[in-house]
Amino acid sequence: MRKVGVAILGLGVVGGGTYKILTEHREMYRKAYGADITVEAVLELRKDRALALGVPESRIASSIAEICSNPDVDIVVEVMGGVEPAKTFVLAALNAGKSVVTSNKEMFCKYSYELERVAKHNRVGLYYEATCVGGVPVIRALLDNLQGNVITSLVGIVNGTTNYILSKMSGSGADYSEALKEAQRLGYAEANPTADVEGYDATYKLSILSSLAFHTKIPYTKIYREGITAVTPADIAYGKQLGYCLKLLAIGKNTERGIEVRVHPTFIRQNHPLASVNDSYNAVYITGDSVEDVMLYGRGAGAEPTGSAIVGDIIYCATHLQHNYSTFDNTEKASPSTKFVNNFESAYYIRISAEDKAGVLSKITSILSRNGISVAQIIQEEDKDPDGKVPIIVVTHVTHEHNINKAVQDINAGTGDYAAVSSVIRVYD
Ligand code: HSE
Repeated sequence: MRKVGVAILGLGVVGGGTYKILTEHREMYRKAYGADITVEAVLELRKDRALALGVPESRIASSIAEICSNPDVDIVVEVMGGVEPAKTFVLAALNAGKSVVTSNKEMFCKYSYELERVAKHNRVGLYYEATCVGGVPVIRALLDNLQGNVITSLVGIVNGTTNYILSKMSGSGADYSEALKEAQRLGYAEANPTADVEGYDATYKLSILSSLAFHTKIPYTKIYREGITAVTPADIAYGKQLGYCLKLLAIGKNTERGIEVRVHPTFIRQNHPLASVNDSYNAVYITGDSVEDVMLYGRGAGAEPTGSAIVGDIIYCATHLQHNYSTFDNTEKASPSTKFVNNFESAYYIRISAEDKAGVLSKITSILSRNGISVAQIIQEEDKDPDGKVPIIVVTHVTHEHNINKAVQDINAGTGDYAAVSSVIRVYD
């Protein structure tokens, strides 16, 4: 029987889940894959945590050097999070001839070009299914099952924290800060929620996934990003009236004009499959030229869902003679030949706070038409806001981002006394 020794760097939530799965399912892996996978070492400063999980004291290492020089360790699992010291530890493991499995999206997104170069040089594996969408096997699907397709779009709800907050706001009418507090109480959102609520976490994931989907390097810095902190219950409620549901979408499109990558709050039709992805669940909706639409759905975080992705990578790494690397030139920057579309096309929801008097609506519609924007729906509410203004909601047909920006500027400048734009939300069509 082939022996496969694993070392786990960090026994936090995901490390603990991985340890549990590996030890509980060891016998099944022996029978199914002919591999005896054992945890030979852990690197965890909180010794009591390791002992509580059942790790024998003799297997608790005190340094990365100890793990790198352990001949019984074949695969190092990095689940520490953050860029440093994780990156230094991963490079040390790769240079010591160990394959690496990681769940660290920030490190992988920013430095995969360097890590992969070192992995190739040392002829070891570098696996990262757990970096994106936790237990949902989207990376393997892109690498191993959908590779016959030209993938034209990949649209995902890839952040559970923000999906929980938006679902809560939509379900109970809570405002953003109440919903965030609830997410923190339940352990979905961190004490400092910036990475999730400002959309950084989603851009790291979209960078990794869209590079794989479109076979070209898409650095996260090329991704347009807008978080959910400005979302209001009023917009969610008006959206509902119009048949929409609000989600933080990560959108990647491979169009004739170039690559379009963006993360922002988006209205989607209530009957779109992504609209049914609620609470902390995640999903990725992929469109390929042959397969058409595929949606992968599941838990995007958590000890055992993420552990499931890590153990899948361990088994893949242990049972394949040849390692797979990126299908594109994995450089730090995008290739000069990759075109990015910044002035992307979308439909838009615009909420305008206006005085209820003759001529205001016609001024607004003439500004929209002057900017080449065609109106699909328009609602004027009868009830006044506390400041005596009435909300006017406009949904446009598909137009360009620059047209909308210009129209918003014109509405705010041109009819300042009568109307001001309160919010603009892109509509996915
Ligand atoms: N913070 C992430 C989320 C979890 O809320 O989805 C792991 O990527």
